[in-house]
Amino acid sequence: MKIGVFDSGVGGLSVLKKIKEKVDFADIIYYGDSLNAPYGSKSIEDIQELCLKIGEFLIDNRVDVIVIACNTATAAALNVLKERFTSIPVIGVVSPGASMAIKQSKNKKIGVICTPLTAKTRIYEKVITELNSKYQVYQKGCELLCPMIERGWESSEKNKEILKQYIDALPSDIDTLVLGCTHYPLIRADIEEISDKKIVDPAEETAMNVLFELNRISLKTGRKKSRKEKINIDYFVTGDIEIFKEVGEKFLGEKVVNVYQPISES
Ligand code: DGL
Repeated sequence: MKIGVFDSGVGGLSVLKKIKEKVDFADIIYYGDSLNAPYGSKSIEDIQELCLKIGEFLIDNRVDVIVIACNTATAAALNVLKERFTSIPVIGVVSPGASMAIKQSKNKKIGVICTPLTAKTRIYEKVITELNSKYQVYQKGCELLCPMIERGWESSEKNKEILKQYIDALPSDIDTLVLGCTHYPLIRADIEEISDKKIVDPAEETAMNVLFELNRISLKTGRKKSRKEKINIDYFVTGDIEIFKEVGEKFLGEKVVNVYQPISES
């Protein structure tokens, strides 16, 4: 079996990491669209177009499930991808993150740090309040973070001050903070140093959803889930491969090999 995972760059590696912890029988194709990052400052239409192209690429590479390992792309394009690619499950990160946040929050006040586009769509507020209207959700768009992490975040006082300003923009009485951009788990240590709230990383529950869908496919089709000694991961990166490797290796704590530039038709 094969899992297709994509993001605007390195952020989706936080989801890939959790998938690797839970699924030991499927290979992975990871697509990082770093040439077009950050998605968070683009229009919904542009993101949909980019995501559809990536979806085609993953389908051509015969994946069994597509994971949109990006909150911004989930907010902008989950429904479009589900409509276009009806033969396989398409999983986003927002619903898993929303249900985790609901489970975590005691006072029903949830803060979300995310990209400007995710904040603009108020997707977390919509999904959480649809599940339970008693919750209050506050979203803060953090324009500078994704590009800084994409280039390789430095844990300096100056950068931590930028991060703190974003976190401080949320009401102080929230008890739960959702990392509403998959890039942010890469700087989780600094976030935890600044915030004393319960941190929710949607990647955890997203990976559970992936496992669930693959089990379902296996049951339905009779395809075997044979445990692999080592799963194979192929990385396709549209931007700078060396930066991707460097940032990726630091976060994953392992060598990032099999990195390719996807062949573009345009
Ligand atoms: N990792 C993406 C997310 O979860 C970042 C999007 C961007 O490129 O701005 O939203």
